[in-house]
Amino acid sequence: MNFPKGFLWGAATSAYQVEGGIDNNDWARVQAMPKPGLACDHYHRFAEDFSIAKKLHHNAHRLSLEWSRIEPEEGRWDEAELRHYHEVLEFLKQNGMMTFVTVHHFTNPIWVARQGGWANKKTIKDFEKFVAKISQSIGYLIDFWVTINEPNIYANLGYMSGVWPPFNKNIIKAYLVYRNMLEAHDKAFEIIHNYYPKAQVGFAQNFSWRRAEEESYLEKLFIKFINWLTYDFPYRRTRNDFIGVNHYTDIHLKLSLWSKNPIAFRKHPGPASERGWAIHPHAIFQVLNKLKNLKIPIYITENGLADAKDEKRGDYIRGYLSEINRAIRDGVDVRGYMHWSLMDNFEWEDGYKWKFGLVEVDFKTQKRTIRESARVYAEICKNNAV
Ligand code: BGC
Repeated sequence: MNFPKGFLWGAATSAYQVEGGIDNNDWARVQAMPKPGLACDHYHRFAEDFSIAKKLHHNAHRLSLEWSRIEPEEGRWDEAELRHYHEVLEFLKQNGMMTFVTVHHFTNPIWVARQGGWANKKTIKDFEKFVAKISQSIGYLIDFWVTINEPNIYANLGYMSGVWPPFNKNIIKAYLVYRNMLEAHDKAFEIIHNYYPKAQVGFAQNFSWRRAEEESYLEKLFIKFINWLTYDFPYRRTRNDFIGVNHYTDIHLKLSLWSKNPIAFRKHPGPASERGWAIHPHAIFQVLNKLKNLKIPIYITENGLADAKDEKRGDYIRGYLSEINRAIRDGVDVRGYMHWSLMDNFEWEDGYKWKFGLVEVDFKTQKRTIRESARVYAEICKNNAV
């Protein structure tokens, strides 16, 4: 099964998860969370890592910028850090890779967190200044702008379930944070287009496939509501040159109104990753099909699994890409695929527990080892076919 000509193939990472040495953001400062320390030391080893990606026939890469490095204090720009990202992006371009740059991937500088983070409208203004600075300085090296990573997950984990900084449990705040992030994306869209009229700007949304476990009227209604919040609301309020799809799994919603846990999510039955997320490739076809009527080009900005022994990753990649290919033949305009992740990395509240990498990293020696599944994926990239 061939992919359209010019299809982009690559992998994704995010700054806090791979760079190492970041200690000026909200995640680094809260006691309750594990710390990445040196992580993959990607800050110093990016050339080695991207050379591996190139060898594996990737023609694109998605990375994120660490706001706390670039603007450690409000209004103070660290030119050395901008030069660093300049070097990183230039290396990718010189090696013939397209750049996907995420401007915000979950972490905030301390000063942003202190002013109330994304619950404070001022943060939108600060983000706009950050985006303008990036546009002026390194923007010409950015092919695809992913303004914000997963506003839906960020609002949910930080402000609903409250398991991520700033550990709030306030449904109204969660809604406001989601809305503020979408507004910030839309403002960023305009700023970037003022600098680069032909820029490609979008944001990455998490699209798990969701279904009603018992198909009761209430469950179906609830799914309709969450789907509206995920698929409709954000794209009605914002402008987008593309939709960034982060997709991992398929979940069932179970409502039991009179129990202690009235709203529960369960995994789709069948095979699962080490993290317990269902492996069900058809789910991505369903997500893509649902997005089809928005008539906006789609890039898969994340898809992958935790699999330390690399037993399932090869088949996972083949399976998901076959379904993506089927969606394309069905008329969905998918133009690229970034696997999560290029290498094992720091997995947020779970530290180094999960191994998502095409490339294995030994965190003691920093040695990189290419996994077998990375070679399966490399063949697909090389042939532009699965
Ligand atoms: C996030 C990544 C994370 C991945 C796996 C995604 O929602 O964007 O940062 O590593 O999930 O948990």
